[in-house]
Amino acid sequence: MSTDLLMKAKSRASKSQAVGKSYKHDSALKHVAGKATYIDDMIEPRGTLHVAPGYAPGATCGRITKIDLSAVRAAPGVVAVLESADIPGVNDCSPAMGDDPVLVAEKIVFHGQLVFLVVAETRLQARKAVKLAQIEVEAETPLVSVADALKADQTVLPDYEFRRGTPKQTMERSAQQVKSSFALGGQEHFYLEGQVAFAFPGEDGDMTVYSSTQHPTEVQHTVAKVLGVDEAAVTIEVRRMGGAFGGKESQANQWAALAALAANATGRPCKCRLDRDDDMILTGKRHDFLVDVAAGCDASGKIEAVEISLNSRCGHSADLSLGINDRAMFHADNSYFYPEVRIGSKRLKTNTVSNTAFRGFGGPQGMFAAERLMDAIAIKMGQDPLDVRKANFYCDGQNTTPYGQSVDEHDVLAKLVDQLEESSEYRARRKAIDAFNAQNTILKKGIALTPVKFGISFTLTHLNQAGALVHLYRDGSVHLNHGGTEMGQGLYQKVAQIAATEMGVSLEKVKITATNTSKVANTSPTAASSGTDLNGMAAAIACREIVGRLKTFVAQHFEVSEEDVELVDDQMLIKGKPKLSIKQLAQLAYEHRIHLSSSGFYKTPKIIWDRERVKGRPFLYFAYGASCSEVVIDTLTGEMKVERVDVLHDVGKSLNPALDIGQIEGGFVQGMGWLTTEELWFDDAGRLRTHAPSTYKIPTASDVPEEFNVSLYESEGNPEPTIYRSKAVGEPPLMLPISVFCAINDAIASLNKGVLPKLDAPATPEAILKAVKAIKAGEEG
Ligand code: MTE
Ligand code: MOS
Repeated sequence: MSTDLLMKAKSRASKSQAVGKSYKHDSALKHVAGKATYIDDMIEPRGTLHVAPGYAPGATCGRITKIDLSAVRAAPGVVAVLESADIPGVNDCSPAMGDDPVLVAEKIVFHGQLVFLVVAETRLQARKAVKLAQIEVEAETPLVSVADALKADQTVLPDYEFRRGTPKQTMERSAQQVKSSFALGGQEHFYLEGQVAFAFPGEDGDMTVYSSTQHPTEVQHTVAKVLGVDEAAVTIEVRRMGGAFGGKESQANQWAALAALAANATGRPCKCRLDRDDDMILTGKRHDFLVDVAAGCDASGKIEAVEISLNSRCGHSADLSLGINDRAMFHADNSYFYPEVRIGSKRLKTNTVSNTAFRGFGGPQGMFAAERLMDAIAIKMGQDPLDVRKANFYCDGQNTTPYGQSVDEHDVLAKLVDQLEESSEYRARRKAIDAFNAQNTILKKGIALTPVKFGISFTLTHLNQAGALVHLYRDGSVHLNHGGTEMGQGLYQKVAQIAATEMGVSLEKVKITATNTSKVANTSPTAASSGTDLNGMAAAIACREIVGRLKTFVAQHFEVSEEDVELVDDQMLIKGKPKLSIKQLAQLAYEHRIHLSSSGFYKTPKIIWDRERVKGRPFLYFAYGASCSEVVIDTLTGEMKVERVDVLHDVGKSLNPALDIGQIEGGFVQGMGWLTTEELWFDDAGRLRTHAPSTYKIPTASDVPEEFNVSLYESEGNPEPTIYRSKAVGEPPLMLPISVFCAINDAIASLNKGVLPKLDAPATPEAILKAVKAIKAGEEG
């Protein structure tokens, strides 16, 4: 951590200036002691039943010819078995398009699609009963891969394109042409707490569901729709998730719907918690892509024209593929100016589980394409990749993105990269690595320094709104509630710091409370890294309202002017009068019938995006970062080790440096997993065969780079009017470890200068070994 920032934070004397200080996560102690209550830890009321989802284990796709559930119904402990015909409302749990049935009866379109659910006295009984189903399917040949779907020309959504100039023609005239095609793998979320929902039936058709979801409002809508009741009859509560990473944005809907259907049918509390293998098979993942990049450059390596085709596997339905693939397009420039450009996106339909949000929301895939292009240019032209990158950065006069928004803060990017180049000693290490590689035939080293520019705001403009609810109680304690959800990122703590600062009270006086659709309604998902930007501002607005009323009251009551009263450090200071403690103040205000509760509402200014016309400003601002990674590979085994990583990341004015650094470190390692060890493997029949940690390798503690230097960029603050001039931090760091992939590429490239390694992502030992073999044979990637 930047000690400077810590010092600055600590030097603030006021105890109610909670913003900017490195408080630990509000639940940190409970997390490590196992005392934080997740949904499966809730004490089960007498009579609780358990739900298990039922699907045809062998089938991947085809018409259902027979469903015989008689043995399931007769199994021990089974209380109810429900099929699609038993759904009282609408049989859909999709986020928008109406194309995700909760249960199917006629046709299965992917392996793991649900046909029925079992409700039993115990979870084990439900899981055993599910296995007794007899489902027959007239098997069809599934479309599994991106290539399959491209050949069949099947899409879930129309193609979309950004275009400027005539890149194809320009490219042909360029002094240098480069191109590359590659595969980029998907990623399983592997949140530690799997999908879970616990439904409690109430009076008059009411339903309360505790759901592990990033989007309580959407779960509320789904449950209401599926049960055929008003949204007002359904309440969703989320205290925390044990990780989500985008995997609980739309993917939590179905399990909440199952629990609610079961509770509705039986009149008893019903819990649905997925087994890990089921969780991995039945829920969507990061989209995998086949990408083609091509560019024309001048003799110095400066880009004149670019064409990028992004082809993604969306799965069987649209889910969030519209926004995700758009965001891939929005980030296919990363930090580089493309004078003439075409960025095309194909959203392919396959007979696999519907892919979904995952940290970065398509951005990482787009950005990866840009970085691959930079490496391709550098290798072709025999230049240092960092020089090619810097030569193509956005700069004055060349700062318009392919979608028309200007990059106003490009100087931050340039400064940040310069600083990191210095502090990581990139140039000296480059020389040392060249020397190492000249002397070693088996072990090869590589280094790369890559930037990140990530757009902040939901690109669906109306989602950029948030609400909060704040109460001041008569003992001076503050009840804080807002629409954001806590998934480990520390949102609750940051918003509490904001509320404490605004209310002029110490952090301990602020009670963090669970997200609940009956407290703050019509919320957006906690996603797009905008949780603090949106909810922090809504909470601040609610607090300012209450503080404003208190000041007006005190000024009148004590006959002073409002400028002469100040609420700070748990006290109301009144010029010329004795001060009041927050408790005395709240009590006095109450007795004078001052309203001590307020809601707050915020909507992001300045943004507007017209998708049809490819026009507007989708993002309020960009978050920047850069990382330098050094790796060593073994060319005989394909093994790889990350030896050193340096990160410099821009969070504007940090609200909480400790939490921000935690997000950067965690995001980095998660992104490293995506690009180096995590490999999803579907068989030809479309069944995911890597559905447990035995075959799916997420990074472990020992994969954390031995030397891992993470610093926050000394920022002047966000130029946009965000909460305390901070910047969002949740997703951008996931893209920093693209430098790890590029460093691996660099190490392989040392084997045959001038040839771009044929390296797909993830760069597993197997992929590295293949690329080593290919480059030795002179094959280009
Ligand atoms: N950090 C932890 N510990 N757990 C998570 O599930 N999700 C990420 C990121 N950081 C996640 C996380 C994702 S995908 C997003 S969009 C943001 O957190 C959401 O939270 P924020 O908007 O409050 O940053
Ligand atoms: Mo994050 S992928 O926007 O939930």
